[in-house]
Amino acid sequence: MKHYHIWTIGCQMNVADSRRTAEGLERLGYRWTKWAEEADLIVLNTCVVRQSAEDKVLGRLSSLKPLKKKHPEAVIAVMGCLVDDITALKQDFSYVDAFLKPSDVEGLIQLVKEHRSSAANLQPPISNIQSPISCYVPVIQGCNRFCSYCIVRLRRGRERSRPVDEIVEEAGCLVKRGAREVTLLGQNVDAYGHDLPGQPDLADLLTAVHRIEDLWRIRFLTSHPADMKERIIDAVASLSKVCEHIEIPVQSGDDAVLKRMVRGYTVDQYCRLVAKIRERIPGVSLATDVIVGFPGETEEQFMNTCKLLEETRFDVVHVAAYSPRPGTAASRLPDDVPQDEKERRRKIIEELQEDIAGGINQRLLGETVEALIEEKHKGKWKGRTRTHRLVFFRDDGDWRGKLAQVKITWAGPWSMQGELA
Ligand code: SAM
Ligand code: SF4
Ligand code: F3S
Repeated sequence: MKHYHIWTIGCQMNVADSRRTAEGLERLGYRWTKWAEEADLIVLNTCVVRQSAEDKVLGRLSSLKPLKKKHPEAVIAVMGCLVDDITALKQDFSYVDAFLKPSDVEGLIQLVKEHRSSAANLQPPISNIQSPISCYVPVIQGCNRFCSYCIVRLRRGRERSRPVDEIVEEAGCLVKRGAREVTLLGQNVDAYGHDLPGQPDLADLLTAVHRIEDLWRIRFLTSHPADMKERIIDAVASLSKVCEHIEIPVQSGDDAVLKRMVRGYTVDQYCRLVAKIRERIPGVSLATDVIVGFPGETEEQFMNTCKLLEETRFDVVHVAAYSPRPGTAASRLPDDVPQDEKERRRKIIEELQEDIAGGINQRLLGETVEALIEEKHKGKWKGRTRTHRLVFFRDDGDWRGKLAQVKITWAGPWSMQGELA
């Protein structure tokens, strides 16, 4: 029997691609292994969004060199956002058998089919990986925006939407295998459909996915503030399965910085959008991304971001220190905020958000929330509320894939604990 090993870092898109790759390989009779050393096929699914991610990828990649020497018959395939200039990569990493463009799952499966010797022992397609309760489904690849710091758009190319039918079919199959929640993915998911015949939009797609029987929850990410149209907000408000949770990166709370980032909106426009979302979708939780230390970001401009976060009180903030990326417009600007200053700003926002999120969650103490339970983790059942809050509780029953009513007994900034109500 042949074994495969997949190593994944990066965003949900990579997680989705790795899941699709695993499914394709299982169908070819491959079985999953935790250990790269015993795999016949090793797949690295890579990310280069910041230098730190790229460094991790390069570290993992070099660790495979001695392995390949010991087991020359093992096939090493690299996919994801590291893969740009394949000729150059082949020169630098001659021990890698194949490089595939980001999200080229079909390409990888095709390659394995061709490579597989006719003597390969084909197993019936019974998966040894448990189907997850919550699954990611890519709906639009690439990005047509021009954010000046961003390498994703360079590595993933222009926007390509998948047809509604294809997405509904994939989501339907996942539900038949036990999924109860799907998250529709795109770098700019709000742009979904403009390149398809008839130009369906994200609201149409949500409506179509909503019809899938036995699917309980629908999420989508990532939204772009300039593309989040009223129709999308209305769809979230009116479709009962679509959860009250929106991921809408602001990146900075200062107009001059937003302009240099080429984000396409002002702080005021962003705040008005947030107000509209909160008015139409009561109880909505909002997540955002922030970059600190962008070229030329002054202390005052940084403080404007803190002010926005204090006033808006997001449920979740992902904060990153700016990292210049090759080929981006911002990489031509002087990277003039020193590393330790970027780190200081990052910590300030993390601490500020810890207070805010802690305060928001404290209000749920003693309340009963509904959680969709995904798995057991360190002896406790782990689930999420519709608003994407993490909830843990102990119970001897089997709660996987069920909705539990949980009374909150402890609330921290990142998760909550409770008991069955
Ligand atoms: N399309 C999404 C968006 O517009 O937010 C996701 C882009 S990226 C995969 C996720 C986050 O990484 C971004 O929201 C941004 O905060 C951060 N990021 C992207 N490029 C970065 C860079 N050069 N330095 C630091 N953080 C970066
Ligand atoms: Fe990059 Fe901006 Fe597109 Fe997000 S919206 S992928 S940050 S170019
Ligand atoms: Fe990383 Fe590519 Fe996602 S750079 S964050 S894996 S789109």
